[in-house]
Amino acid sequence: MIPSATRLSQHVDRLGVEHPPIDLASVDYTVHQPEELAQRFGGVLDYMARTELEVERNVLELATLLPDPPEVDRRFYSQVWLPQETHHGLILDELQVRIGRPPADTNLDRVSAKIRVVGVFAHLPPVQDVVRMLYYLTGMTTERSALLAYNRLLDGVVEMGEDAVAHTIIIPIRRQEPGHHAYYQMAARMLWRNLGSWQRWLVRRLRAVSFSPVGAGDADQRADVGDMMLALGMTDAEEAAAFAGQVARVERDLLFAEEQGLAVPPYVTRSFRECVELAVARASNRPGEH
Ligand SMILES: [Fe+2]
Ligand SMILES: [Fe+2]
Repeated sequence: MIPSATRLSQHVDRLGVEHPPIDLASVDYTVHQPEELAQRFGGVLDYMARTELEVERNVLELATLLPDPPEVDRRFYSQVWLPQETHHGLILDELQVRIGRPPADTNLDRVSAKIRVVGVFAHLPPVQDVVRMLYYLTGMTTERSALLAYNRLLDGVVEMGEDAVAHTIIIPIRRQEPGHHAYYQMAARMLWRNLGSWQRWLVRRLRAVSFSPVGAGDADQRADVGDMMLALGMTDAEEAAAFAGQVARVERDLLFAEEQGLAVPPYVTRSFRECVELAVARASNRPGEH
């Protein structure tokens, strides 16, 4: 079905009705083996908690980058996405504290200089559409990687017999992510159709030079992403590439439709590979910690 403004708006309505933020009182934090859970998945919980909580800053960034968004975007990110993701973050952070870890070190309100600079140019209408396209693409890869991470985390906690965590935390959180991805996907497909060729060119260029996993602004945070991938079993280059491929599938189909045979946009594969390399390098520089 071809996405339309009406369908997008109905999708937001449906998400709002069917997926209220998870009731914090519904969570059962019972953990049988807190030390083992912390050892195996502590880093994953921390990264996911941080990025989920940092949606608060992402909304400030959006206000800088998209000064005049379509009403449906504003409704989506302020009334559906922000409240849902914030609860994901609060729950995961509480879980990691209960198993003996420090809470996530978040940046909730400092918008980077880079974003502010882009924001200045973003006020020009043709550039605004390019920036909006980048926002949807970022949303898609972020939501897809979150879903894949939760899938693997769920397998891990089930295998450990941590049923309360599986059933009252990971499964309810995971259930809310596909609706976010669907939103960005519909919005991206609609906007892409209306972009001129120079705008499409610029989107591809900017994606290639700026792609990075969510919440991975510096080398240390990229190493955290790598640690997460390793903890979730992506221990060789082939698995990391398969992960990148799944994360960027829609982006590839949309941006590189003419390039038959392109498995994954190379900047996505490169970025995730670099995260794993940084994690391995960091671990070898800190003997005894890993
Ligand atoms: Fe989430
Ligand atoms: Fe999400």
